[in-house]
Amino acid sequence: MFSRLVRPTMVSARNFSTSKQNNYKVAVCGASGGIGQPLSLLLKNNPLVSELALYDIVHTPGVAADLSHIETASKVKGYNGPENLLDALRNADVIIIPAGVPRKPGMTRDDLFNTNAGIVRDLAKAAAEVAPNALIGIITNPVNSTVPIACEVLKQAGKFDPNRVFGVTSLDIVRANTFIAEAKGLNPKDVNIPVIGGHSGVTIIPLISRATPSVSFSEEKLKALTGRIQEAGTEVVKAKAGAGSATLSMAYAGARFANSLLRGLKGESNVIEPAYVVSNVTEAEYFSTPLLLGKKGLEKNLGLGNLSDYEQQLLKAAIPELKKNINAGVEFAKK
Ligand code: NAI
Repeated sequence: MFSRLVRPTMVSARNFSTSKQNNYKVAVCGASGGIGQPLSLLLKNNPLVSELALYDIVHTPGVAADLSHIETASKVKGYNGPENLLDALRNADVIIIPAGVPRKPGMTRDDLFNTNAGIVRDLAKAAAEVAPNALIGIITNPVNSTVPIACEVLKQAGKFDPNRVFGVTSLDIVRANTFIAEAKGLNPKDVNIPVIGGHSGVTIIPLISRATPSVSFSEEKLKALTGRIQEAGTEVVKAKAGAGSATLSMAYAGARFANSLLRGLKGESNVIEPAYVVSNVTEAEYFSTPLLLGKKGLEKNLGLGNLSDYEQQLLKAAIPELKKNINAGVEFAKK
């Protein structure tokens, strides 16, 4: 990770083209949490970030003071409590949201809805007011519902741009790459497995038939790997035994996602990252597929591509669940 996100040397920093912007304000909402802290650490180490605004309802002065001692050029500031939310988000280029409660053993992501829906609604309202052009990456679960909530809130404020709101599903891809690499004795860095759909249970659809490099498994092994990718979050929840869900791997995935958004903003070509967005590739109004990112966020949805018969079945099982989750988000935002 760090080799991919290292800070530039003095020479490489000077060599960055002056025609391309290289200094972005990134705000993290929920910055003091299990994901928020390591995510903010990784962002402090990202040379594309010039200003890092850390917002939470607790502890941001400490987190910001700590990170501010790291020898990278970005300025870090903590914003504590709702009275400082607007200042935290003002003119942000990218807003990443890992605010909200995580799962405990026995809980589904949907069980988090009651608490997290209101948190995402309020953060989206603030973003609409002071950072209408920001690209927003939502990590808060249930992602299948929190993204529609944010979109509805932005619509209500007259500030909605479907190319700027993303549900962060990168961790599903990171996990799939790791598990398939393990199964085939490959270096995970060389493996790419598209994962489409949503971000919970059956809505997570790994497309192992489209793996790079190409891999094949027996039917039984394929089902087992698919199930493990779909339930990988629960594996971590169980292992943490009440102390939360994935935080470190999520921070890695969130930093990878934020870096892709920033590279797109900067004008780099061929930046492809999957995310859960407003979509017309299936019957579900929101769906995660690989996306081409650019200066205005989502530039082109790369769509579903070819699916094997097994993956078609997974898609069929995912759609009703996704629609239900999306509807819950939309209805909440209308209240
Ligand atoms: P955590 O409880 O460690 O941290 C959450 C932070 O949010 C806390 O610092 C809390 O003070 C803060 N917070 C609460 N209400 C807030 C508000 N109104 N405004 C700003 N900050 C607020 O939880 P953790 O482990 O960091 O997880 C955060 C969320 O990320 C959970 O909903 C979890 O389910 C989700 N998650 C998503 C994943 C994904 O792949 N998209 C993977 C793993 C977790």
